[in-house]
Amino acid sequence: MKKTGIALAGAALAVGLVSVNTGKAQAATYTRTQVSQHATTGDCWTIIGRNVYNLTPYVPMHPGGPQEIGRVCGKVGTKAFNGQHGGNASIQSMLKTYRIGALKR
Ligand code: HEM
Repeated sequence: MKKTGIALAGAALAVGLVSVNTGKAQAATYTRTQVSQHATTGDCWTIIGRNVYNLTPYVPMHPGGPQEIGRVCGKVGTKAFNGQHGGNASIQSMLKTYRIGALKR
């Protein structure tokens, strides 16, 4: 009984966290103009597909170098990203963790 209660509370918490995260991510939308205001390696947003990513914390850690990834700051990076990493599922899931919202159109 006690165990079930804890398990249920855990499940409810997990569901709550997931929906809070999803809700937040889906609510935010950014225009191309807004993205273009984050166009340096020290402040780097990019558009990949229909989503907007803040890559700033990742730029200094990028194994391909900050300049390579820096080419997409403030811009549409879909072709650059897919060209380099499109076939790599683990890099694609790393990318997801930097998503801040969707592109406003
Ligand atoms: C958006 C434009 C990007 C470009 C143009 C780019 C380019 C590159 C290049 C040239 C390399 C070196 C490949 C080699 O040495 O053979 C590399 C490696 C790597 N990049 Fe990127 N990158 C980009 C974005 C990202 C992002 C957003 C992530 C993760 C969040 C990422 C994660 C990695 C990892 C883990 C490696 C090392 C493993 C591998 O080469 O497959 N990159 N990248």
